[in-house]
Amino acid sequence: MARVAIVGGGGFAKEVIEVARMLGHEVVGVFTLENSLPDLPHLGYLDEMLSRRADYDALCLAVGAVNARGIANRRRIIEHIKAHDLPTLSLVSPLATVASDVAVGQGVFIGHEVLISCDTRIGDFVLINQRAVIGHDVNIGENVSIAPLVFLGGNVTIASDTMLGVRATVRQGICIGRECVVGMGSLVIKNLKPRSTTLQMPSKIYREPADG
Ligand SMILES: CC(C)(COP(=O)(O)OP(=O)(O)OC[C@H]1O[C@@H](n2cnc3c(N)ncnc32)[C@H](O)[C@@H]1OP(=O)(O)O)[C@@H](O)C(=O)NCCC(=O)NCCS
Repeated sequence: MARVAIVGGGGFAKEVIEVARMLGHEVVGVFTLENSLPDLPHLGYLDEMLSRRADYDALCLAVGAVNARGIANRRRIIEHIKAHDLPTLSLVSPLATVASDVAVGQGVFIGHEVLISCDTRIGDFVLINQRAVIGHDVNIGENVSIAPLVFLGGNVTIASDTMLGVRATVRQGICIGRECVVGMGSLVIKNLKPRSTTLQMPSKIYREPADG
């Protein structure tokens, strides 16, 4: 079992820490700008990942992304990790179901009750959050963030630095380009060019109290 240092100090980091501990790893501290996890030692941020290298065996990326800014922030951290050749660990929740022939890259997080079907490839630093369902023969690039309850049909391709919001659904065989933002609840039935954004119809307010 490894001594892991968590990169990120927000709410999503708590989910990553839980999975790390379920897998028997020791969480030694947090690299972050703003730490909301007072129970763990604050180890610093990007510069200290190198100077405190002896304090941990591997880094776990635990910075979430809810929009394009979040994806870009994750990309900056990933480039720092790669530039300094820092070791990372992939965490797969013991409550996830991942087919035996799935290829999982480095620095990946796979949350509780995720289902991943056969012959799928998960790129480096991909985040797949709780209860997402990923079909067979899916190809996911680097730094893709998949929110809870997303569904990807078979043979879907998602290029790097793309984000899919909660409950997005992608038809089988679709290709989604680099740096796309797929908004919550989107039904994607056509290929998306790089840097596209999709939004599904939001709910309309049907009734509101007259007194505000
Ligand atoms: C698509 C998304 C990234 C846009 O976020 P943003 O770039 O910050 O944009 P804004 O929230 O400023 O919204 C811009 C406009 O799009 C609308 N909009 C935003 N998201 C929408 C969605 N999912 N469906 C429909 N309309 C949406 C907003 O109402 C707003 O409309 P307006 O300009 O008429 O007021 C974001 O809404 C989203 O879906 N994020 C994913 C969240 C998620 O999955 N969280 C869980 C993480 S575990």
